Amino acid sequence: MTKSAVLILLGPPGAGKGTQARMLEEKFGLVQLSTGDLLRAAVAAGTEAGKEAQAVMSAGGLVSDEIVLAILKDRMAEPDTSRGVILDGFPRTAGQAEALDELLEAQGQSIGSAISLDVDDAAMVERVSGRYTCANCGEGYHDSFKQPAVAGVCDKCGSTEFKRRADDNAETVSARLESYHAQTAPLISYYEGKGVLSRVDAMGEIDRVAADLAAIVTQVTA
Ligand code: AP5
Repeated sequence: MTKSAVLILLGPPGAGKGTQARMLEEKFGLVQLSTGDLLRAAVAAGTEAGKEAQAVMSAGGLVSDEIVLAILKDRMAEPDTSRGVILDGFPRTAGQAEALDELLEAQGQSIGSAISLDVDDAAMVERVSGRYTCANCGEGYHDSFKQPAVAGVCDKCGSTEFKRRADDNAETVSARLESYHAQTAPLISYYEGKGVLSRVDAMGEIDRVAADLAAIVTQVTA
């Protein structure tokens, strides 16, 4: 019997949060909740929040807590999240972490584990600038580290359309790394203090990292 869980994936751009969240979603039936994806959807939809977020995201900064929390709360209110969620890219500031604590307390839930994906900054620019995704289903690939089995065809849905993110260029990635170290890395100590921190060496191969994460999630959901 598995119980629903709230898991947090912490890590800089390129650490593998999205890659691993999608794998955990498939393996454990949890719901991946990426604030980056939610914000990109708001930008694409042209909402007021999306318009405000767009400039900040292109510059590699962090979108305001107010916008992110509004989007996150709406998504957390949807019924599928009762299966348990993997928060990918949230929280990213002390204010967001405190707001999450309050939200979970009000729902009678708690954090199962906040998992820090530990990586070397130097490798992250290569990881992020080589990344692309299936335009249809969102499956992630990489020019060097993860290519489709048949070149140009998505393994998952068979689409032949792929896309790259506008903020995946060396200059913006450097700014995103700076934002991570200034505002998000301190959350590692925050969750350590709460006794829910786990750390995973995320410099290894994707499947190796996935196995380490699965061991943690199995323990949390047992
Ligand atoms: P977001 O979309 O969350 O981007 P990010 O945190 O910069 O993270 P990435 O998506 O770049 O990396 P990832 O860790 O998911 O790595 P991935 O698995 O793709 O946020 C974008 C922007 O939105 C932010 O800059 C900010 O402006 C805004 N935002 C979002 N959330 C916010 C919040 N809470 N508050 C305020 N603003 C917010 O992997 C990267 C590549 O490497 C892939 O190609 C993958 O195949 C490959 N790879 C993965 N793991 C490995 C491995 N172990 N070995 C080799 N290659 C690997």
